[in-house]
Amino acid sequence: MRTPQRSTLTQFLIEERRRFPHASGDFNALILGVALACKSIARAVAQGELAGMLGNHAADAAGAGGSINVQGEVQKKLDVYSNEAFVRFNEWGGHLAGMASEEMEQPYQIPAQFPRGKYLLVFDPLDGSSNIDVNVSVGSIFSVLRAPSAGEGAARDVTEADFLQPGAQQVAAGYALYGPATMLVLSVGTGVHGFTLDADLGEFMLTHPKLQVPADTQEFAINASNSRFWEPPVKRYVDECLAGRTGERGKDFNMRWIASMVAEAHRILMRGGVFLYPRDSKDPRQPGRLRLLYEANPVGFLIEQAGGRASTGRQPVLGLAPSALHQRVGLVFGSRHEVERIERYHAEPMPCDDASPLFAERSLFRT
Ligand code: AHG
Ligand code: MN
Ligand code: MN
Repeated sequence: MRTPQRSTLTQFLIEERRRFPHASGDFNALILGVALACKSIARAVAQGELAGMLGNHAADAAGAGGSINVQGEVQKKLDVYSNEAFVRFNEWGGHLAGMASEEMEQPYQIPAQFPRGKYLLVFDPLDGSSNIDVNVSVGSIFSVLRAPSAGEGAARDVTEADFLQPGAQQVAAGYALYGPATMLVLSVGTGVHGFTLDADLGEFMLTHPKLQVPADTQEFAINASNSRFWEPPVKRYVDECLAGRTGERGKDFNMRWIASMVAEAHRILMRGGVFLYPRDSKDPRQPGRLRLLYEANPVGFLIEQAGGRASTGRQPVLGLAPSALHQRVGLVFGSRHEVERIERYHAEPMPCDDASPLFAERSLFRT
């Protein structure tokens, strides 16, 4: 018979809580609710086609059309299932004032039959949707904030404005990665810790305590098909990486692109690297691809808690004051020295590039 050699997530949370004798336990209950949602999503992802979980979500009961989310993206069946899992496993506990998700246009109000609490939960229920049907790793990303409504008698509905808090105010952030192993990676503001799901016990076990991102790297990740839309500092950085040993950097670089940010963040937490989905001119209505509140902020919090750096290219991402729930942002994160280099390139004056009027000295996109 096997006896546990490692801490479970529950044990980890209880031991963390002992350091705060007045803590109510709400926070721990919240994280365990999130972990349960992630376990249920992990099962659905693992069963794939056997559970009829692949493909697009149908817009109507007759199975016709494809439903579209607030981002204008076609929803996969697993996007919808995962959103439901987050909502159902977390709405009843009494520790949340409200939720917000990539898949819901408006904030989710806690139904009247349940008590309301002092935290807000924000999530991307399934990140990397384009990889679901090809059996490549996907994940869930979450962020916990304090609810401004808690001080006002928790009965009122939450508003969009309640969620518009800088990432530096996150109480906790994390992700689940549904890869060869299912992992939960979590920070409650005291470093970053990785837990691996023991499917027999149904428990996340602490396998990767105190993760640290190395300051230097020779590995970068960017979707190079967007290169014609990049700003000059990004183009310069990537060109120098590609030039390798005989170029400016004097060393060869390796490149990776999974198209699941959660999987790229995990690789970077494990062995370093730098990830860029920078601001570009591809769609003038959107300054970047990734969403600030439920992608950039939680991943930025984890990376910084592990000694790395997360930036828009111009400023630390965690310092941004959000202006909308589904706001997009340029994002660069990973090994500290590389991110600092990219920020330096953005700060240096650039020659005015007439071929690219969007980024010329007096254009809309220059700040
Ligand atoms: P989501 O599936 O939640 O919409 O997010 C996908 C994101 C991110 O995970 C990934 O880094 C990026 O989209 C991939 O974008 P490209 O398809 O442009 O490579
Ligand atoms: Mn995503
Ligand atoms: Mn998603």
